[in-house]
Amino acid sequence: MSTELRVEHLRKVFATGKPAVDDVSFRIEAGEIVVLLGPSGCGKTTTLRCVAGLEHPTAGSISIGGRVVSAPEQGILVSPRQRNVGMVFQSYAVWPHMTVRQNVAYPLRHRKVSRGEMDRKVGGALELVGLSDYAERPVVALSGGQMQRVALARSIVYEPQLLLLDEPLSNLDAKLRLRLRDDLRRIIKETGVTALYVTHDQAEAVVLGDRIGVMRDGKLLQLATPHEIYNRPADMFVANFTGASNLLSGRTVGQDGAFGIVEVATGERMSVVLPAGMGPGSPVKIAVRPENIRLGAGLEGTPNRFRARVAAQHYHGLQTVYDLAVLGGRLEAIELGTDLRNVVGSEIEVELPPALCWAYPGGEEPLGGAASAAAETLA
Ligand SMILES: Nc1ncnc2c1ncn2[C@@H]1O[C@H](COP(=O)(O)OP(=O)(O)O)[C@@H](O)[C@H]1O
Ligand SMILES: [Mg+2]
Repeated sequence: MSTELRVEHLRKVFATGKPAVDDVSFRIEAGEIVVLLGPSGCGKTTTLRCVAGLEHPTAGSISIGGRVVSAPEQGILVSPRQRNVGMVFQSYAVWPHMTVRQNVAYPLRHRKVSRGEMDRKVGGALELVGLSDYAERPVVALSGGQMQRVALARSIVYEPQLLLLDEPLSNLDAKLRLRLRDDLRRIIKETGVTALYVTHDQAEAVVLGDRIGVMRDGKLLQLATPHEIYNRPADMFVANFTGASNLLSGRTVGQDGAFGIVEVATGERMSVVLPAGMGPGSPVKIAVRPENIRLGAGLEGTPNRFRARVAAQHYHGLQTVYDLAVLGGRLEAIELGTDLRNVVGSEIEVELPPALCWAYPGGEEPLGGAASAAAETLA
């Protein structure tokens, strides 16, 4: 059984400081997985805890399956127990003195479930997370990844309406983390439960989410499919946080069909995606992903072809990272493949596909403002 989650104008202000969650609204459809992504301290956990009922919101409303569970203005606050949500946390919240089976069966003890039904549900949950063969083991004998599978089985065994996951992979080593990450989406989809998942890891967000909501400073900046987030980031922060690390500065000079034309410091002009309502002469910053820069000979006549000099080259085996002097600045470009196609010092042509060059209002903000904010949090 799964159900819709609706969060409207959610606000949470702790006694100390500025709002942890600031007017956040979103809807998760029944059976959908939404991932909240953002740097540490942006309000992900607080949002999730408000949905669970563990935190009392300051304002706004939350409804699960059409039932309002929190609306402080109307004096409504349903207790966590009565919300029927499952939760998985970063720390493996398992009972150390119990076996795997006892851990998973635990939530059913307080619910009116017959013995036979309990065995069936526990068996089903263990099978789903791949722990059928470990049922009688003491939980402390398991690896971190397996303990997190136990926690997951325990959170879905009573078929909650909604599953909340707070950085469940953060304590695992890299290898286990990748394995469980790929498994998690399948497991959640097989149960059909509606899920809200929070993480600071963009790769996790992309693999797991049907949609991703990018947060910063308590605000939800963009909520969209992974493809949209990666190909049409709503602002400079989203672009930078998801890896569009190259920045160019320029000024708008005109329009080229669907694209805007921007002139950079060298006088060269490029076609870019421009936000609506930006008149000529506006200062802009342009974000470009290193993976989206095409090197070498391409089609003649395509827009945004420029001369570049290979300033440095870093061979990574499966890919090469190039540092290019181009358009009066430096751009990083990544080329897939094991061969080295361009030597340091050589002059090459590069193509910056207009649809993948995103301009945002430049203002007087110092170059790299948003980029360095994102870099700080990723460090
Ligand atoms: N119990 C609390 N009391 C005071 N401030 C808190 C509390 N919990 C979180 N905060 C603050 O709220 C902001 C958001 O925190 P949090 O939701 O934990 O962010 P995230 O999960 O994205 O790292 C942070 O500035 C944090 O310091
Ligand atoms: Mg958190």
